[in-house]
Formats: sequence, C-alpha cells, structure tokens
Amino acid sequence: MRTEEPRAIRLKDYRAPDYKVSKISLDFVLSPEATRVTALMTVARTGVLAPLVLDGEHLKLVSVALDGRVLGTEDYAVDAETLTIDKVPEHFTLEIVTEIAPAKNTSLEGLYLAKGIFCTQCEAEGFRRITYFLDRPDVLAVYTTRIEADKALCPVLLSNGNPIAGGELPGGRHFAVWHDPFPKPCYLFALVAGDLGVITDHFITMSGRKVDLRIFVEHGNEPKVLYAMDSLKRAMKWDEEKYGREYDLDIFMIVAVSAFNFGAMENKGLNIFNDKVLLASPETATDDDYAHIEAVVAHEYFHNWTGDRITCRDWFQLSLKEGLTVFRDQSFSADQRSAGVKRIEDVRLLRLRQFQEDGGPLAHPVQPQSYITIDNFYTATVYEKGAEVIRMLKTLVGEDGYRKATDLYFERHDGQAATVEDWVRCFEDTSGRDLSQFRLWYVQAGTPVIEARGAYDPGQKTYALTLKQSLAPTPGQPVKKPMHIPVRLGLLGKAGRALPLTLEGENAQGPEERVLELTDAEQTFTFVGVDEAPLLSVGRGFSVPATFKVTQSGWERAALMAHDPDSFNRWEAGQTAARTTMLDAISGKVSGPDPLYVEAVGEVLARAKDDMAFAANMLTPPLESEMAMAMTVVDPDAIHAARLTLIRAIAAAHGEKFAALYDSLSATGTFSPDAASAGRRALRNACLRYLTAADDDKAAALAAAHYEAATNMTDMIAGLATLTRMVSPRADAAFAHFYNRFAKDPLVIDKWMGLQAGSSRPDTVERVRTLMGHAAFDIKNPNRVRALVGAFSGNQLRFHAADGRGYALVGETIRTLDKINAMVAARMAGAFETWRRFDDGRQALMRHELETMAKTPGISSNLFEVATKMLG
Ligand code: BES
Ligand code: ZN
Repeated sequence: MRTEEPRAIRLKDYRAPDYKVSKISLDFVLSPEATRVTALMTVARTGVLAPLVLDGEHLKLVSVALDGRVLGTEDYAVDAETLTIDKVPEHFTLEIVTEIAPAKNTSLEGLYLAKGIFCTQCEAEGFRRITYFLDRPDVLAVYTTRIEADKALCPVLLSNGNPIAGGELPGGRHFAVWHDPFPKPCYLFALVAGDLGVITDHFITMSGRKVDLRIFVEHGNEPKVLYAMDSLKRAMKWDEEKYGREYDLDIFMIVAVSAFNFGAMENKGLNIFNDKVLLASPETATDDDYAHIEAVVAHEYFHNWTGDRITCRDWFQLSLKEGLTVFRDQSFSADQRSAGVKRIEDVRLLRLRQFQEDGGPLAHPVQPQSYITIDNFYTATVYEKGAEVIRMLKTLVGEDGYRKATDLYFERHDGQAATVEDWVRCFEDTSGRDLSQFRLWYVQAGTPVIEARGAYDPGQKTYALTLKQSLAPTPGQPVKKPMHIPVRLGLLGKAGRALPLTLEGENAQGPEERVLELTDAEQTFTFVGVDEAPLLSVGRGFSVPATFKVTQSGWERAALMAHDPDSFNRWEAGQTAARTTMLDAISGKVSGPDPLYVEAVGEVLARAKDDMAFAANMLTPPLESEMAMAMTVVDPDAIHAARLTLIRAIAAAHGEKFAALYDSLSATGTFSPDAASAGRRALRNACLRYLTAADDDKAAALAAAHYEAATNMTDMIAGLATLTRMVSPRADAAFAHFYNRFAKDPLVIDKWMGLQAGSSRPDTVERVRTLMGHAAFDIKNPNRVRALVGAFSGNQLRFHAADGRGYALVGETIRTLDKINAMVAARMAGAFETWRRFDDGRQALMRHELETMAKTPGISSNLFEVATKMLG
C-alpha cells in the first residue's frame, strides 16, 4: 500500500552501492504462518563511511547481530521499507532474523504458499520481503541455503545451485542445504518446498560434462512435462551451437506452480514456471500452447548466460537481459519451426502491444529514464522492441559480426552487472563501426514512420527511392532526432522477377536484396540499370520496428501478395489489402470488398498446401484490435461489421475451394505437436472460419461436428471458438460437454472461461459476471483472473460496448484485485491504455474508471502509477 506520494527513481541518480555482500547463508525454518529466516551476511564497505541501509518490507524483525554481538534497538532504525545501522566497521558479519507468513502472502512476491507449495518470486524487488538486504541487482553474493520443514508436507526442498547436505531431524522434520558457487544478485534467489513429483533426464554438454535435468510438478502431471523436457534439451544444444554457451552447474531444475504472477522466472539453476507455460498433453494443450512452452523454456534457460552470468547493473538496464533473451528465444523458435511464420507472429505481437504502447500515454524508451514501480516496466517496449533493436544490430553487422560481438560480450562481462552501453560497445569494438546514432534506439520512445517514394526514369533506366523518416513526440520527449535505420528491400519486375539492385556509382551488378542504411531525415538512393518500372518491396522481414508508408495500388498489393520472394512482405501485402478494403467500407468509400483482394485470396488457397502454417496466416485478415490501430477514432461496432462482411464475401467467392481444402486436411494418424502437423491443423481451422461464415444453423452444425470429431485440443478449441459467435443450443451443448470433460483441469477450464469471455454475443458481459461467481474462479489466482477478466478486456466489441458495462466490470475487478495482488492489477489496467483513441462517450466512461482507480483510498503505487500516467 502507498503510504506517501510515490517517489520516482532516476537513471541519472545511479550510484554504486556503499556496501558489498560477498557471501550470504540463509536458513529457512518453514511454516505457513510463521517462517523464520536467518540471514548471515559477510559485508564490506566500498568507500567512505556511510550508514548501512538495507531494504525490507512486510517483515517482522526478530534480531540483528553485528560480528556476533546482538544489537539493541538503539543501535539501528527500522521503518516500513528499511533497516538502517549508522555505524559499522569496514568489514563485518551481520546476522538478521526475520519472520514472515507465506500463507498470508497474496501478492505472490517474496515467499508464498500456494496449493501446499512454498515458492519464491524475487524479481524485481521481492527478496526484501524475505529478509533485510541490499535488494539491488549490482550486489552479487555467493548463496548457501538451508531449508528445514515437515517431511510429510514438504518431502522436496529446493534452492539454487548444487545440493551439499541433508538429513532427518526430530519431530518428523528434515532439512537440505544448497550451495550456489556463482555470485548472483538476490533477485535470482529461489526456494521451493512441497510435495512434488519429478521427471529426470540428463544432458551431456559440449565439453562432455553430464548435467542432471529435473522437472518438478504436482503429482500426476509428470507425463505433461515431457515436451518441456525435450524443449529444454534442444535449447541447451542450440545455445552451445549458436552462441557457444555451455551450462555451468551439475544440475538444472524447473518447477511448475499454479499461482504465479508471470510466465516464468530464470532463478539460477532453479527456474520457476507458471504451470500454464509448462504442462502439455494432446488432450489439454493447443498447438499454440506447445509452441509457447518451447519458447518460454528456452527463454528462461537462455537467461543463464544473458541475465544470470551477466546480469544488469540497475533496473534501467532491464532490456539488456530481457530484450536480448527475447531475441534469443525468437531465433531459437525460428530455427526449430518455420522462420517465416515465426516472424509474422512476432511482428503481429509487436505491433499489437508495443506499437500500441509507443503511441499512447505509457510510451517510454527501451531504456526508461525514470520509474515509480519497476514492476510496471516489464513492458512490450523493454521486451519486444528491445529484441527488435538487437535484431537490427545483427542486420547491421551481419551473422559473423554478431557472433564476434556476443563472444566478446560474454568474455568481457562474465560475472558482472553490466549496462546497455557495455553491450553496444562490444558491437563497436568488434565491428569497428560507430554506433552513436544507433544508440538513439535505446533512448528515444515512439515508432518511426518511414515514407518511401520511388521514381522510375525509363530513359535513364534509373529508379530513385526517397526515404523520409519522422518520429512523433511522446510524453517527456517533444523533439526527436533522426534514427539509424536498416531498410531491407528488393525490386520486382513483371511476373515477380527479382531485379538486381545496383546503386549509382557501383561497378558490379548488385544483389537481388539489400539493406540500405537510412540515417538522415530524408535520403534518396538511386538504382541504375533498372530495365523496367519496378514494384517496390520495402521493409522485408520487418527489418525495422517502424511503420512504412508506401503508396500502392490494389493490383500492386495483389502482385506482391502473390510474388514477393520475402514471405513476410507477401503476408504484409495481404494484410494491407484487407485492412484497406475494410477501412474503405467503414468510411463508406466503397459498397463491397475489393474484388482484387478477394481474387488474390483465391490464389492463396490454390497454393495453400505449399506452406500450410503460412497459408493459415495469409487467410487471417487483420484482427479487430489490429484494425483499431489503423483508425483515428476507433469504432468497434463498425470494425466488427466490416470484418464479418469481408469474411463472408471471401467465403461466398471461394466456398467450394474452402470445403475441398477442409476435407482434404482431415486429421490422420497419431497426434504430433511438430510445426508441420500444427500448420496443417491451423490451415484446416482457417477454412472452418470461412465455412461457418454465415453463423446460421448449418454453420453451427458444422462447428459442432468439428468439435465432436476433434482428437486434440487445437481442434476442439477451433470448434468451440466458432460456436461462441452463435446463440445456439449446439453451442450450449458443446460448452457443457467440454466443461464436464475437463472440470478437474484448471488450465483447461481457463480456456473454457476465456472463450466465453471472448464471445461476440451481446450478453457476454453478464456471462463474464456470472462466471466470476463460478466455483472454479479464484481472484487470488492470476491465471484465473487473466483467463476470464483479462480475456474479456481483450474482447474489443464487448469490452468497449458503448453502455460502459464492460468498462465497469473490468474497473471494479482491478480495484478489488489491487488489494490482493497489486502487480497483476496494474497489468490488467493496461486495458484502458487506448482510452483517448475512442469517441467522446467511451472516453468519458473509461476516464471515469481510471479516475476512480486513482482516487481509491489505499491504492497501491503500482496501480497509482499506471492510472495517473494513463490519465496524463
Ligand atoms: N525475468 C522474467 C520474469 C519476470 C517478469 C520477473 C516480470 C519479474 C517481472 C522472465 O524471464 C520473463 O521474461 N518471463 C516472461 C516470458 C518470456 C518468454 C518473455 C513472462 O513471464 O511473461
Ligand atoms: Zn526474461
């Protein structure tokens, strides 16, 4: 709870710590209501005499002893956030005993108890809820952890590093001792204790060392972690091959817990996962779930080097580990699956979440300059845009140059708490390039707009391409400088022939694709020897996180959709065509969908089997939320109607082709989650969308049949998702059947809730309210809240209903949740981020919700920060 006006922390105020803790021994005597924590630290002063100020919150202080002497209360001062000792020697030991109540901890930060399992979450500032400490990432210590608990309740006792001792104690208790030889900041500390099942395996590293791999889960879930284990081994191998990174301890453990604030956490040697991103079986997980599990397992594993071995100096450097690790997990998934499809998915997410953020009241640079609550800065900008910045660096220095730079980074900074500047310098030192302008990507917020204009001169056979960049003001940054922008492009001739790209002044004929570097506000690049008027394919592979403005006709888009050798731009052309025709319909410019686009979809269908996952993406027109981003004043009802009309027009034009394709793709053989099989299912389910476009009883019958025939969760969900559009007894029957079948599996019931919350039916808001009263709903569990209320706030049509009932439901839930779990409440408040982009009526309703939050007595600083920033 907020006790005084929250204080902003600023990057420019960074100072190295006054004290270092080189070693810490922790002793936990676990009990739900009163866990006793004894911390013995070896401390050294780093500079001049200064008081020792330790962080600590929600702790009951039992005792403090300095060099073995118990201090009296006059020797130190304690307030709600700190413990201060004015006079300490240059070197000393400090023993602090605290008491905490894990069973009462609903914030899920620090040590908490959920479903009988003791579990910690310390990033970013949770360790201060366990004991008094220098809770900052630049204080690196060696940890030894002793855990004592009741043996029947907690047969498994885990912490970071290697197990070094353990044994029985009187009274049915036992203990274990863990030692982690790698110095680490306290945010990477972890402890887990409970009654858990385990799956074991091993991995032989590139130098021939054997590493034990263990995944711990609730009893009975063991078979559901085999895919995660397989993903882990592939990730370990990939990191050796692609980055030369070998695992360093003798044991690597993952634990799945059911109550967790995020997806997963990279604690050294002991990753903790939300079970939602770890457990999978064909009956319970969709293809997207499998892909996500693979990505998150890899992401947390990759942090062992980019996060743990090299950590962050302060939280302003967060993207140093998160942006880089996201880029690494994206590259891994691209290598394991279809790189083209992965790029489309990543860009879709980036635009939806990060471009949204960049264009709104919460816009901030990849390296923020100040924050009130660091938890609010685990954002799409720090993560996704941070990953794009690294991708651009790689584009600029090339594959080999990138490897040289990362090799140097690992060598130079191993064991350190580093900065973004350290990272960029490794690229300069290995490539010899001056990246001073490129650094602006870390400090300027906002999404650049790049205008591309081409002029063909048939007499000279030249093509002059003018690129113009601009960056709109964002909160606190009224004036921007031009950025260093890599623009990947190609030129197409008739029938899709790739034209060579020779720049004026070059002797040899150029390649068919190249990367131009735009550094000025406006630059013209002239290509010579261009035999015919070319078609421009710019921003290939989404080479820069920017918005391209290119004047293109319908037929030009259709040509790119069919012939661009770059699959990303084929998809992009299709999306642009679909978006344009929907926007034209909304503004009343045209009476029906663009026949050129509808015809081009027919071409996609004809070639769909060449790459089925890609075709499924081509057949998905921009989502309603994606359409919203293209409107100055968002009209959710008009968007919904335009999208339905477009889908129905495509269905009417190509009905038979969809039916034939659908039938030819029926499931065969046993289930496999591999990318090709998943692509086949995705394509068939894309066909289902069109075959049920009429939303009439025939459509309901087909969807119900699809659901009933399904042999895996992906197909079941596709059937159910179709039925959510319809008010039909078939829909009710399928949902009832699904519930009965999966009532005992919370992760599947989450899907059941989420589908209903995402329904376009007019009574959705009431149904969500009713579901909040369902026995399976629990406001204390973040997964349940996100699945139901989070999914509803992503339902553009119904959340943004003009009567404001959707806003009221979400606002009310956030205010209730704030008292239980402020971190999750503040994240959910992001639902109101776009409020200024709607009409006056909706704006007033959303503003009212935000104002009510901001003036709620006792509001957390997390929610206060986001609500007031959104109000601007
Ligand atoms: N270090 C984070 C976990 C985290 C997130 C801690 C927010 C504190 C606040 C972890 O590595 C992470 O980034 N997890 C992501 C998933 C990942 C695949 C992007 C998550 O939890 O969503
Ligand atoms: Zn991460």
